[in-house]
Amino acid sequence: MSRTLSADETCVLVTGGAGFIGSHTVVELLERGYQVVIVDDLSNSSPVAVDRIKTIVGPEAAQNLTFYEANVLDRDALERIFSAHRIDRVIHFAGFKAVGESVQKPLEYYHNNIENTLVLCDVMRQHGCKSIIFSSSATVYGDPDALPLTEESPKKPATNPYGWTKWMIEQILTDFHTADPEWNVVLLRYFNPIGAHPSGLIGEDPKGIPNNLVPYVAQTAIGKRDTVHVFGGDYDTPDGTGVRDYIHVCDLATGHVAALAWMNGKTGVEIFNLGTGTGTSVLEIIRAFSAACGHEIPYVIEDRRAGDVTANYADCTKAREMMGWEAKFDIDDMCRDSWNWQSKNPDGYATAQ
Ligand code: WQD
Repeated sequence: MSRTLSADETCVLVTGGAGFIGSHTVVELLERGYQVVIVDDLSNSSPVAVDRIKTIVGPEAAQNLTFYEANVLDRDALERIFSAHRIDRVIHFAGFKAVGESVQKPLEYYHNNIENTLVLCDVMRQHGCKSIIFSSSATVYGDPDALPLTEESPKKPATNPYGWTKWMIEQILTDFHTADPEWNVVLLRYFNPIGAHPSGLIGEDPKGIPNNLVPYVAQTAIGKRDTVHVFGGDYDTPDGTGVRDYIHVCDLATGHVAALAWMNGKTGVEIFNLGTGTGTSVLEIIRAFSAACGHEIPYVIEDRRAGDVTANYADCTKAREMMGWEAKFDIDDMCRDSWNWQSKNPDGYATAQ
């Protein structure tokens, strides 16, 4: 049974805590008095993000943050961290996450995402910590039979190795609890996280050409890309383009704080959808971003992208009723904050180095 602790008594290890969702979650945790330890190998993030977290939360709360540059696969590094800190809870973000890349590099994806979870959980249990929140994804629902998606909607075969790693890790953590009922597991299924902290100090900083829509739109808005390539205009949706449930990254971050509070002192496995319940099309995103940046954003409609589903969006009743959490920000808020981040950081964190 994980002990019931107050926030300021709780030390949370955040793997991948310098990344897009991780950094925003660390801000919310520190602002609520949690002690936070980040382990991140910076393979898809920057040390500047850690500095900016400290700037956002201020010097007093920043004293509760410890950062280790290390890979979660590195058992010795994890042993050192768990020996130096009494880790009460773990939020596990660290993992490769590019859908297209995963098709090209399945071995790297399975090794990194699956093995790092196994190493992490083994070191956790050796140190008496069995409380974990896992960064899962709506991708485990595959191509939905019915919308909106609830937590009871069937998991479908994934359409890429990235999706399979999320699918499999959910099963692995569930099996851990079956074998040892002391495990306390929360699986958070994110829909499409976008936006940035309103300060514009932290945000999404993909390496290379963005795989995801909104960072690509943002880079087009600042002139770094010539035009947005819309993958498909003939879907069975109101305007023919793909529909997704976009959620502000700050709402996603507060969802993790709500999950930490909810799981306090419990055991078991619980799944929550973290979305807004609203579907938005690609063209609607482009229009909203144009309004946020004050100028038109060029786009061209092309063929569909292999593996894409027509539409998905969440039913978030369970998170609202059980955790008292729901998303607050709308698409205009998300585009405003994404534009604010991108225009202040044209080259992401590299601008600051
Ligand atoms: C959104 C919509 C595209 C790019 C994936 C993962 C999910 C999560 C987020 C990682 C779709 C269209 C996209 C572009 C476009 N994982 N699109 N032009 O595929 O819904 O979700 O990323 O963070 O687990 O599955 O997100 O942003 O790639 O696509 O038209 O240049 O935008 O067809 O309709 P996706 P996405």
